[in-house]
Amino acid sequence: MSCEPGSLGCHSVLAASLGWRSGGRFGAASTAEEVTEGLDLAGRVYLITGASSPLGRELTRVLTLRGARVVVASRVAERAEAVAADVRALVRDAAVTAMGGLDLGDADATRRFASAFCARALPLTGIICCAAVTCAPFARTADGRESHFGVNHLGHFHLVHLLCGELIRTAASSGVQGRVVIVSSNAHHFTYRVRRGTHRAVRTIGFANLDDDVGYDPVNAYAQSKLANALHAAELHERFRAAGVNVAAFAAHPGFNERELARAFDFPGGSALAALMRGRLTKTPETAAATVARCAAAERRALEGAGSDFGEGDRAGRYHADCAPRRSSLPARDPRLARALWEESERLLGMKPGEARPAPERTRSESGREGAGGERGRGVVGARGAPSAEPPASPVAPADAMTRGEAIAAAPALAAAKTTPGKSGRWGLGLAPAKKAED
Ligand SMILES: NC(=O)c1ccc[n+]([C@@H]2O[C@H](COP(=O)([O-])OP(=O)(O)OC[C@H]3O[C@@H](n4cnc5c(N)ncnc54)[C@H](OP(=O)(O)O)[C@@H]3O)[C@@H](O)[C@H]2O)c1
Repeated sequence: MSCEPGSLGCHSVLAASLGWRSGGRFGAASTAEEVTEGLDLAGRVYLITGASSPLGRELTRVLTLRGARVVVASRVAERAEAVAADVRALVRDAAVTAMGGLDLGDADATRRFASAFCARALPLTGIICCAAVTCAPFARTADGRESHFGVNHLGHFHLVHLLCGELIRTAASSGVQGRVVIVSSNAHHFTYRVRRGTHRAVRTIGFANLDDDVGYDPVNAYAQSKLANALHAAELHERFRAAGVNVAAFAAHPGFNERELARAFDFPGGSALAALMRGRLTKTPETAAATVARCAAAERRALEGAGSDFGEGDRAGRYHADCAPRRSSLPARDPRLARALWEESERLLGMKPGEARPAPERTRSESGREGAGGERGRGVVGARGAPSAEPPASPVAPADAMTRGEAIAAAPALAAAKTTPGKSGRWGLGLAPAKKAED
């Protein structure tokens, strides 16, 4: 185990044991209620996937406590209803909307969910991607993908793409920065090792074996999906920035619960160490929700101020743990890997290269030219679930033609990340019709 700050364990163990505040007001022992104290989130709407998890439930409680509406998503409507009922019992006048039918391992179901969300005509301030398959035996999603990669990364990549237009429009019309918070994990350090040509194996994304059961390891597979979450957040943020839209993306490590602590210390002598750490290192739902809630709801200035500590450019400030930016692993900070993952995700979802690029809100006259389907619900209308008749060339070479490292090197340079403003030179700020809240 490395003791680089932010690597699994060391920093968090010390931070949690000693109650460190990470150089800011908040730290490992802070709760979501503490980090959101004083915030008025009235008028904001957050969508939370995996809302039936203890983390999702606590986030829903605290965000509604601060006045936001939370749309709780689950595969099963009754589970979403149960969360909504629990939160309404705890928070007076809590604005919670329950939605079932979100199976992130099923692109058609994800598309239907996004359409159903858009049909509610709610604004969308933030998406919190909390759902996960965790260290499960090998299984495939409805779409035939390995379940960790398919649900934890690809499903969220798809959902965020489908709802991106809603986020961008809401940010433009409200003036409040939109947020995408992708719940990652410090376990991302333990992704698969992949050999690059004749070089030694390095920890990275195993593009060539994403859906293989050969050599499958549940911890590595979970870690790989969490690395993908961190890379997705970094690349998504870069693309929001390039598009000039007022939306920020973060990856957040909530901290470990007892179950994940045991997994993280699953090495010789690890269980004794874990026993020592238990209670000090592990987090409750209240403390686990703090980092995620901060990334989702804190004022832009508060987060930017904290991010500047690293002096490594904005990308470095995307990964947060213990309520502060934290240095993620080397592969999680690799822009080439992030772009290769983005392009491969588009390909796996049957999109054209560059299709998932966030587009700036356009002026009414520009979107009017598109006809009735135009800008409204664009994310969903423009998305394609089924692979196109002629699938685009893969940015990553086929499994048996190259080693994984060679495949990454072969990924074409990102050409289309930059977008330019419309002819008017404006990004359509303030021109999107403000939507009515559900209540
Ligand atoms: N627990 C930890 O120690 C720890 C540490 C670091 C990071 N994290 C991260 O924190 C998040 C929550 O973890 P947790 O352990 O609290 O989760 P959990 O209790 O195992 O719950 C998993 C959630 O994912 C949802 N889910 C699973 N498969 C899905 C699918 N195919 N489509 C849509 N939703 C699906 C489930 O929702 P439904 O069954 O209602 O559909 C459930 O709410 C995860 O992102 C995890 O990686 C956890």
